[in-house]
Amino acid sequence: MIKKLPHPVPPTAAPAAPEFLEIRNLSVQAGSRAILQDISLSVAAHQVFGVVGPSGAGKSTLLRALNRLLDLQTGFRVSGSVILHGEDIYRKDVDADQLRTRIGMLFQQPVIFPLSIHANVLFGIRHHRRLRRSDAAELVEKMLRRVTLWEELKDRLHSSARQLSLGQQQRLCLARTLAVDPEILLMDEPTSALDARSTEAIEALMLDLKRTRTIILVTHDLAQARRVTDWLACLCPENGEGRLLESACCDAFFSSSACQKVFDRLDGGS
Ligand SMILES: Nc1ncnc2c1ncn2[C@@H]1O[C@H](COP(=O)(O)OP(=O)(O)O)[C@@H](O)[C@H]1O
Ligand SMILES: [Mg+2]
Repeated sequence: MIKKLPHPVPPTAAPAAPEFLEIRNLSVQAGSRAILQDISLSVAAHQVFGVVGPSGAGKSTLLRALNRLLDLQTGFRVSGSVILHGEDIYRKDVDADQLRTRIGMLFQQPVIFPLSIHANVLFGIRHHRRLRRSDAAELVEKMLRRVTLWEELKDRLHSSARQLSLGQQQRLCLARTLAVDPEILLMDEPTSALDARSTEAIEALMLDLKRTRTIILVTHDLAQARRVTDWLACLCPENGEGRLLESACCDAFFSSSACQKVFDRLDGGS
């Protein structure tokens, strides 16, 4: 008689660690229209994760879903899950305001408040905690140094931030976001309104910041994607719904024939 052997005891290996950020079957509806359909992506920590795709593919909507900015707009419905450190950010007991301190966002056009440079840097952090005057001054200097603006601005911290060039304004927005100390930075075409020098400065900052944070960058600029991203995902509209076409490491992505059509459309400036 053949004796059934017991199943081998599995080795005491630790269970596979969940990815830092997992997007699972994420769909977004605006009214009756599907904007994103069934997006699943894994984002590893300390990378620049790029998102490319033609206009209207849902790239900005994806970023807004990742820090629950869509909650602030009526008419949007999000399904699926976004798991950060093993916890779904869409769980009912997650405070979206608190979540946005962990997942900061930078937009295409710098969002500058009609206040001084100093007050702009502190605008976000002051929403979350009180700061002593000396701590505030120290933080402003630290953040402006972080975004390489300190030398340019140290003598006019109390003048209006509106007088700054667009490139300086975008770095100021980055300083304000970093002051809250987020672990993830979402950047939605952060350099598309900037000149070449300012773009270079922001790109250098991305490469430096990924040592301590994770960046998800939406870009229209494929040359920029090549320069700064480690991983790339491509969204494409299909019957008006944004779907994931490809997700691959940067080198493999650029040699993927599936994306060639999208590249042509992007290079054509769609
Ligand atoms: N508030 C909204 N209501 C309805 N449709 C929207 C809204 N915001 C964006 N859309 C639509 O969702 C689609 C994706 O938009 P978006 O995420 O901005 O794309 P991308 O950033 O890739 O250009 C577009 O067709 C856009 O018209
Ligand atoms: Mg967009």
